[in-house]
Amino acid sequence: MKLSNAFSILFDLRYSVQAAFMPTIREILHSPSLLLHPTALSRFFMSKVWIAFGDGVDENGRDVKKHLITPNAYGVVLDIGAGHGHTVNYLDQNRVTKYVALEPNTLMHSHIRSIANAAGFTEADSTLLILSCGAEDTTSILSSLSSPIHEPPVDTLISILTMCTIPSPQTTMTALVNDVLKPGGQLLFYEHVLSPKADVAWWQRVWTPVWKMAFDGCRLDRPSHLWVEEMQAGDGEESMWGKSEVWGKEGEEEENLFWHRAGRMVKWAV
Ligand SMILES: C[S@@+](CC[C@H](N)C(=O)[O-])C[C@H]1O[C@@H](n2cnc3c(N)ncnc32)[C@H](O)[C@@H]1O
Repeated sequence: MKLSNAFSILFDLRYSVQAAFMPTIREILHSPSLLLHPTALSRFFMSKVWIAFGDGVDENGRDVKKHLITPNAYGVVLDIGAGHGHTVNYLDQNRVTKYVALEPNTLMHSHIRSIANAAGFTEADSTLLILSCGAEDTTSILSSLSSPIHEPPVDTLISILTMCTIPSPQTTMTALVNDVLKPGGQLLFYEHVLSPKADVAWWQRVWTPVWKMAFDGCRLDRPSHLWVEEMQAGDGEESMWGKSEVWGKEGEEEENLFWHRAGRMVKWAV
């Protein structure tokens, strides 16, 4: 791998520190007890990072998301790790009945609300629901959607650049698909993943410990697309998916530390 590609990540790291370091120091001076709460500290830092990066990252993935989300998302849509809620801008209001933005970083909720409201989804008419639990908390998700036991409520589950961050992604995604996604429902994802090129993967592993400090646990070394493809239903003998399609990002160089895969996976209907 060219060294210029391997070290290009330093620009992003420097930019993230520039955007979030001073506000975080000010916040610590204001509430020193934050130092005793590493999760809250990391979320505060990430909230400032995402103000600097969110729009650019959305712009960068716009073509893939238009192709992935707009023609496919329907019914009740659960967006895990919604960030500022950029996904809502790709939803077709004629086909989507409710946008459920799950985002444990509550400092991002006001952004979600304003982007969703501008796109026509509001809490007042129940077309918008913002959840502050983690994606692993399927019990809270189901109770927030008032779902009767054994009746998964979600038609479309979306993960945009989130499987890189959530703890135990294989267990969490399997639980979400099993318990929260309806039979015949779909998972749409767009993620940066572990590269199949050994030298790129080596650099992704080298940078992950530093990167995850700045980006609230985000890892560069997860083969999330493979985990999703290999997901198995119930007793673990059959594939979870009746239909699956995974593709890359047009024009993306192979020597990219942020190598993306997008996919549409349809759960078996019973
Ligand atoms: C890189 S951002 C992506 C945001 C958004 N999906 C987008 O594409 O603009 C990852 C998001 O995952 C959220 N996150 C972190 N831990 C999570 C968890 N356990 N469950 C769900 N989301 C989580 C972070 O707060 C962050 O907003």
